[in-house]
Amino acid sequence: MIKNEFIGKYSIQGLLSMEFFLDSTDLEEIKRLNNLGIIDGLTTNPSLIYKAKTPFEKLIKNICSEIKGPVSVETVAESSSQMINQGVRLSKMAKNIVVKLPMTWEGIKACVELSKININTNVTLCFSTSQAILAAKAGATYVSPFIGRLDDANLDGVQLIREIKQIYSNFNYKTKILAASIRTKNHVSQSAIAGADVATIPPKVFDTLVNHNLTDQGLEIFNSDWNKSGQKIL
Ligand code: E4P
Repeated sequence: MIKNEFIGKYSIQGLLSMEFFLDSTDLEEIKRLNNLGIIDGLTTNPSLIYKAKTPFEKLIKNICSEIKGPVSVETVAESSSQMINQGVRLSKMAKNIVVKLPMTWEGIKACVELSKININTNVTLCFSTSQAILAAKAGATYVSPFIGRLDDANLDGVQLIREIKQIYSNFNYKTKILAASIRTKNHVSQSAIAGADVATIPPKVFDTLVNHNLTDQGLEIFNSDWNKSGQKIL
């Protein structure tokens, strides 16, 4: 298999794997976690940009120089023509920009046009299978189902991922399923089981992925026994 240089889905061993994106605009956190060597890309949204309190272009350029994989940046316009203009401008900020478009008819129109000129797109705020079909038909690179917000509304976010996966396999759609609005490590595992191609994860949730109390207990016992053994690793 040949790895696509920009949109990868391969682990460090070259095996097909779920991709991990960070859902953040906090540069310190991004650098800290990117240091692990397992971050494949990143997503932003207007609320995260607001939180960062840094000039927009400077922030995006800094993020794109840290994260080498796809970085989603959202357009904020109502008409498809404005979205296309913004998308073209955003795509010139760095070569790894993915243009995020809202799940509206104008967003879908803009997605069709940006796809025609080979600009990568992410149709965001997806809450239903019909919306996911539209994104795929428009040639979106990614569709972002918001699983946490569905759960917040007493619906089943992971079930949506499962259904989109089934539909995309039925028709061999190439659009990647990017599980978004992730609130817990369980969301990450369940999205992987449901077949999401990517999970975009806030840093505070990312930090919890490694945790298990039996790991902590096991380590404590191993360390204590090792210390008692008087052995050394040269
Ligand atoms: C995805 O691209 C969005 O930035 C994000 O996952 C939204 O998550 P929230 O529901 O926690 O705001």
